[in-house]
Amino acid sequence: MYLSLYISITFFSFWIIYKANIIMYPSELIVFTSQDLIECTNNFNQNNFIGFTQLGRFFRGNIHGQHVSLKILDNEKLECLSSKNIDKYLIIKEEVKFWINPVLKGHHNLVSLIGYCWEEDVKGVVYDLNSLDTLHTIMMKDSLNWIQRINVIYELAMLLKFIHDQDKQNMALNISASHILLDKDYKPKLFDLVPLNEVKMLKEQLTMSTCYIDPYFSMRGGEWNRSCEVFSFGIVLLELLTKRVSNIGRKEEHASINLNNLLHIWAKNEYKPNCSLVHKNLQEDWNYCAIDGVAITQLAMQCIEFFPSNRPSMSDVILSLENLSVFQRLDDVRPIKREKNFI
Ligand SMILES: *[C@@H]1O[C@H](CO)[C@@H](O)[C@H](O)[C@H]1NC(C)=O
Ligand SMILES: *[C@@H]1O[C@H](CO)[C@@H](O)[C@H](O)[C@H]1NC(C)=O
Ligand SMILES: *[C@@H]1O[C@H](CO)[C@@H](O)[C@H](O)[C@H]1NC(C)=O
Ligand SMILES: *[C@@H]1O[C@H](CO)[C@@H](O)[C@H](O)[C@H]1NC(C)=O
Repeated sequence: MYLSLYISITFFSFWIIYKANIIMYPSELIVFTSQDLIECTNNFNQNNFIGFTQLGRFFRGNIHGQHVSLKILDNEKLECLSSKNIDKYLIIKEEVKFWINPVLKGHHNLVSLIGYCWEEDVKGVVYDLNSLDTLHTIMMKDSLNWIQRINVIYELAMLLKFIHDQDKQNMALNISASHILLDKDYKPKLFDLVPLNEVKMLKEQLTMSTCYIDPYFSMRGGEWNRSCEVFSFGIVLLELLTKRVSNIGRKEEHASINLNNLLHIWAKNEYKPNCSLVHKNLQEDWNYCAIDGVAITQLAMQCIEFFPSNRPSMSDVILSLENLSVFQRLDDVRPIKREKNFI
């Protein structure tokens, strides 16, 4: 009897502690004030704006000379969640839990969290990342050469494989070119990952960007799984190859979509066996070779197969990428590999 009393008291006090700390953070994270974040982004100046995220906006900033990136949550969207009885703190709790997850922490293609701010006027998280811009914006500026494109796609594939290989997949990757940041070394970093339980909970509120969503999933419904992410990956791959960057303008999202403008439909119309959909200018790149063009086009087409079971796994994708002749030359642009050699 004493034992059970003891257990219930212990349980009760844990419950109190849990309730009292709406959000429990580990001490190593820095708590920023809203003034800090306003100063470091120059009052959220348009010049520092990088892009929209699922629940807010992404900025670059500078804290005492250190380049950082910030995800600022939109108060209206948070209110909208709480009006629907969804715990608005959950988003930030999941965000922090996710980024301090020991398995993911420090992966070189994920941004790392340095702190957060949770005040009335500003709510957001701060990442240790010197971002250049989103892949989307950089592709629009058309400044990537063939090797840089292959490098981005290879690093992205490695990251997806890493996440898919976890025993229990606990997050969805809202993959699109506007959710991939390139840092100053053109290394891709993902920043808008969504914990899987959040995807399930917010199901009605969330729609994937039309250009990237798996058509099988959106037509037939069902569970979100790795195959859906292989599809979105295939779209990013096609964008890099064909230079046909999907239009993700916010207005267009709501306007009626012209199906032929969807990249996967365009590609299926254009594709013939043994053909390359690589853009003409890229074919002139001196690192490009025709066999690679055919092989990587075929790979992209497999990723966007309508039936999920016909799509390759990320491990298959990596094997195909490593088989490209250009792959041998990636070493020149991949600092990680070189670092490894020194260790
Ligand atoms: C994915 O990103 C788009 C565009 O930013 C957003 O509208 C959508 O809600 C996101 N979906 C998920 C599942 O997070
Ligand atoms: C594709 O190319 C291979 C060799 O280059 C050839 O053997 C094959 O017949 C070609 N397939 C088609 C459908 O053209
Ligand atoms: C994902 O689900 C679809 C059915 O919705 C299935 O065909 C496919 O094999 C699944 N993929 C994986 C990797 O489990
Ligand atoms: C690698 O390339 C060779 C020819 O270049 C091809 O026969 C083989 O199927 C490729 N392997 C993979 C995994 O793509």
